[in-house]
Parts: sequence; C-alpha cells; structure tokens
Amino acid sequence: MTSGYSKVRPERKASASPIATIIGPKMFRWRTRERARPGVMPRRDARFSNLFDTSTPADIVYLDEAREADERNAALMFKRLREMDVPEVIAGIVAEHWAGERNAGERGRPWAYYTAMLRQMWDEARHAMLGQALMESRGIDWTALPINVTFSWKLARCCSPLERHVLLYAIELSLMPRDRGKPYEHRVAAESGDRLSMLFHDYDWADEVLHVEIARRCLKPELPGGLTEARRQADALWERIAAALARDPMPLDGRTDAVRDWWPRFAREVLGRDVEPVRDTDVKDWRPLD
Ligand SMILES: [Fe+2]
Ligand SMILES: [Fe+2]
Repeated sequence: MTSGYSKVRPERKASASPIATIIGPKMFRWRTRERARPGVMPRRDARFSNLFDTSTPADIVYLDEAREADERNAALMFKRLREMDVPEVIAGIVAEHWAGERNAGERGRPWAYYTAMLRQMWDEARHAMLGQALMESRGIDWTALPINVTFSWKLARCCSPLERHVLLYAIELSLMPRDRGKPYEHRVAAESGDRLSMLFHDYDWADEVLHVEIARRCLKPELPGGLTEARRQADALWERIAAALARDPMPLDGRTDAVRDWWPRFAREVLGRDVEPVRDTDVKDWRPLD
C-alpha cells in the first residue's frame, strides 16, 4: 500500500508543517522522534463481565434449523451485540500500521486507506449498537451477558496487523453465501416476525457487502498474491492461533462453569419459554463459515 510513496524524514516534514509553526520546530522535532506504540489489547469498561467466556452457543443456535426462527433470531441479537470485538480489531490494525510507518519515518498510507478502514470500524461499532437496541427493545439487560473479547484479544496477542486484516477478510467473505451468510440471517429475522431485527439485518447485510469491497481496496494491495493469498493464509493463521493458545491459554475470569450455560437463561428471557439445551461449545473450535 505504501509503495510509490517516498520516505520523508520527520525533520523535513516538521519544518514544513503548520503545527511546527504554532508549537515551534524544536518541540515538533522532539515529539516526532518519540516512538508511537499503540496499546491494541482490548479493554472494556465496568459494565462488562465474563470477558473471557469461551462458550459460543449463539453461533450454534442461529444456524440450527431444527430450532424455531424466534430462537435463532435471539442468537442473531446476541451476535450483533458481540460485534464490538470487530471495531477493536480494526482499531488495532489501523493504529499499528500508522505507528509502524510513522516510526520508520515513512509518509504512510493515503488518506483513502484511513477513511475506508475507519468507515468499516464505525459500521462494526454500529452493528453492536443495533444488537444493544434489539436487546433493549425486549427489556433485556445486555450487560448481564458474556460479551467476550476472545476474538479481538487472541488476534491482538498472536497476529501482526496484516495477519489480523487477513483473518477479518476471511470472516467477512464467509458471510456472503445465501444459504448461511447474511442473506440467511436476514431471512431468519424476517421469519421470526421481529420487524426491527429484520430492518437491522438489512442494514447489516448491506454494510458487510461493502466491507468485502473495502478489503479489495485496503488489503489486496498489501499481499503479493492479492486476496487469493489472503484466503490461503487464513486457515494456517487459525491453526497457528489455536496452537499458541494451547501453549499459553487466555486468562480465565472467574465463574466459567456458571457462564457456560447462559444460553437457556437468556433464551427464556427473550422468548418466554424453555428451549432445547445447546451442546457444549468452545471458542477454540470456532472457524468462519465454510
Ligand atoms: Fe458487522
Ligand atoms: Fe464487517
């Protein structure tokens, strides 16, 4: 992405900068010599708990056509809410690329890279807010749910910014097929009779189509083999992350046994009836849809 852009020494940039005119070139040079090191490990505020819950029942339930559409829609509500881990990943990709190029004294990426990636980051934050709005429309206390950080945490811990972008692309691409991806999710919301969810999943679907296009603009130029290479790399990266976590597991935060059976309680609250139990799930078994 940066090829074609000349390396610019910070001092030269500083002398021409309007900021240098305001704060003085000496101060500016001192500041530009500091290495930027963004913190990319996800953090949440005091409303959140069970950040490292490893269960993934919603990912099983929304695809289980033996279950009623309203239960599958409840799983989609949770999946939207949990999407706050995606802006966490994108923020880290953008910040680390920016810092790496700045620390190397490079001019960095074109503005179009930042506008596209930050548009996607905002979309993903909005998807989580759509989930929040769906929960609140049903009177559900979403802060009681285990909205984990396992995805953004393991990517920040185990992968370079480019590798994280490859994995993000692989996931978004897997959401396109009609039978199990975003068109399916929209159909489930419609079949459940939840009109707000149907509207929100229409927005969500449209955004995800755009995100695959953003990958063409922002990720493809970074890989010699383009997006074909990204698809090839993704499987090996999932394996590498799984092996790294087997050696050095994610932190445990307390009452894991009590958290792992949260689905029946949540489903009862949303639907007003009991549902079939979900088999034991673990995030280490999770992969993007085939
Ligand atoms: Fe999304
Ligand atoms: Fe997306």
